[in-house]
Amino acid sequence: MTSPAVIPIVALDVPDRAGAEAVVRGLGEACGFYKVGLELFSAEGPGIVSWLRELGKEVFVDLKLHDIPNTVQGAARSVARHGASLLTVHASGGRDMIAAAVDGARAGRPDGGCGILGVTILTSMDAAGVESAWGRTGVTVQDEVLRLAGLVAEGQGAGIVCSGHEAAAVRSAFGDRLGLLIPGIRLPGGETHDQRRVMTPAAAAEAGARWLILGRAVTGAANPVAALAEVHRSLAGMA
Ligand code: C5P
Repeated sequence: MTSPAVIPIVALDVPDRAGAEAVVRGLGEACGFYKVGLELFSAEGPGIVSWLRELGKEVFVDLKLHDIPNTVQGAARSVARHGASLLTVHASGGRDMIAAAVDGARAGRPDGGCGILGVTILTSMDAAGVESAWGRTGVTVQDEVLRLAGLVAEGQGAGIVCSGHEAAAVRSAFGDRLGLLIPGIRLPGGETHDQRRVMTPAAAAEAGARWLILGRAVTGAANPVAALAEVHRSLAGMA
């Protein structure tokens, strides 16, 4: 039995629709799945999701919601209604908030096509940052990631966002129960930019990724179509 294909998602890290159009036009048929983050969503609103859907693209809406369950439920319903396939919430919002997001996504997309992903520990935070934010001591990032991943599983979330370096531990604790979305992907020999811990597509797939977030490795390449083709080649070589 073969494992499900790993799905590359290209991040639209641009300030407005004109920037998004340039990326989407440039990649054409080569890319079928895009990430819309806080910057673009705040500039353009949910119409940016509808526009991508009209072009036949799938959309990951990375809003990292964190509020009372009722509010998150309503927001998830709205985002799902616009056709999103994936939406993020902060796992630290708790099991009830995650479950409310899942309910909202189902209400907005009754086909069940909008999965809720939990953000565990932001990669911008280290153990000391977590200790200071949450008033705790003796924290390890990996233990916190696993604890928060447990809340996502209890709330029936579809998966979590994590670095490729945490993926193996999450896989061994949760197996296929949680899909892993992994950012920080670079082609072999590619520039790392400001990401401290990067992985190649093949290594992330090996570590158990279901979705890969591709930012500058594709959008910053001299030939983005060729860069994305290399990602697909590298993933196909895994089979
Ligand atoms: O590949 P590149 O570094 O350009 O990708 C940046 C993208 O990955 C951004 O959209 C960013 O939000 C996302 N991301 C990240 N690290 C995380 C979570 C998301 O770089 N831990």
